[in-house]
Amino acid sequence: MGSKKIVGLTLMGILIACANIFAQGNMPDPLTMSDGRSVQTPTAWRTERGPEILELFRKYVYGRTPDKPFTLKATVAEKSPNVFEGKVSRKQVSLDIRHEGKNLAIDLLIYLPKGREGKPVPVFTLLNFGGNHTTHPAPEIPLPKSHVRENYSPPEKFRGAKSSRFPIEEICARGYGLVTAYYGDIDPDFHDGFANGAHGLLDAQNERRDDSWGAVSAWAWGLSRIMDYLQTDDEVDHDRIAVLGHSRLGKTALWAGAQDERFSIVISNCSGCSGAAISRRRKGETLKDINKNFPHWFCENYKRFNDREEELPVDQHLLIALIAPRPVYVASATLDKWADPEGEFLACVLASPVYKLLGFDGVGANALPNPDTPLFKGRIGYHIRTGKHDLTSYDWKCFMDFADIHWGASLSRK
Ligand code: GCU
Repeated sequence: MGSKKIVGLTLMGILIACANIFAQGNMPDPLTMSDGRSVQTPTAWRTERGPEILELFRKYVYGRTPDKPFTLKATVAEKSPNVFEGKVSRKQVSLDIRHEGKNLAIDLLIYLPKGREGKPVPVFTLLNFGGNHTTHPAPEIPLPKSHVRENYSPPEKFRGAKSSRFPIEEICARGYGLVTAYYGDIDPDFHDGFANGAHGLLDAQNERRDDSWGAVSAWAWGLSRIMDYLQTDDEVDHDRIAVLGHSRLGKTALWAGAQDERFSIVISNCSGCSGAAISRRRKGETLKDINKNFPHWFCENYKRFNDREEELPVDQHLLIALIAPRPVYVASATLDKWADPEGEFLACVLASPVYKLLGFDGVGANALPNPDTPLFKGRIGYHIRTGKHDLTSYDWKCFMDFADIHWGASLSRK
């Protein structure tokens, strides 16, 4: 089949999907309050509709993160000023987070470009799936001390195994830094009855309610703790910290970015169901699938909407809208049908009116772009890459081009 035909079919798919969705008449409008009032000013968005949507996602989807006091201590565990032939410096920092006598350790791996004459570095922050040692073969990077899933065991076998997802040299050559941590340090990715990780740290026993936080919320909380640390690191540009995530960690990046405005760019890669994709389409993974296969990711209330997506008072375009007016980028892949690329793009289209209300262009298109043709028109960026569910150097190139545009133009250079 020629590429024109594929694109034509996809475009038709989007149009039909839009028609179906609006015909259903139950797609939540970002600019209409639950009580029917219309949201017509930036102030009404900031003070009423935005907080209302955030509360709905807490109550029905990701769960409520406990608002409890903690202390955070950072210790530099290792520093190598000359890696990658002296072009990059590496730093490993251990975060020790404490609450009522309990503690949680998160190990950060940080790469920064050299030769910036002391200027703070804009960075991309992303969690990894298998441990920091999977991002690069260097023996100085320790194996994780927290629980590791079967597909990354035994850990030593996976040293450097995911380096294609972390093109450190390319990132640093463009003047950016990379901050990563193992998501299992924050919360384990299996149903442990919410006993360990951030849940074990902050939850009181027998405290679980239908809107209590799941693992995605815990990982997002961890990203905010990493942000707490980055705000104290003088080598990092505190106004230019992006959060990025792939797959389940793409869902996490969107939720972290929606809640924590210190992330000045938010990037979701192949995030799919309960990430960027519109749930009401029921294409690829559905709420029933995700709640059955990953019962620990979301709150208990979310399960009420299995096969009843149209009753959910939110859909995922509203999650993207919560990031407005900050720049957000959504990336899909042509073969990643499970993540519903058309649904991910549609969410960008449906979030765009909020950007307009706040004075910016959203995604700036109504039709799915051709593969490998990124949309950089407004503050919602989008591309669909040829290929499978993955995070590649092509995706990184697009994210960095997007960051060049927004961090270069919208914030004063330091
Ligand atoms: C599964 C899951 C997805 C998720 C993905 C991942 O495929 O169904 O929702 O995004 O795992 O995180 O790798």
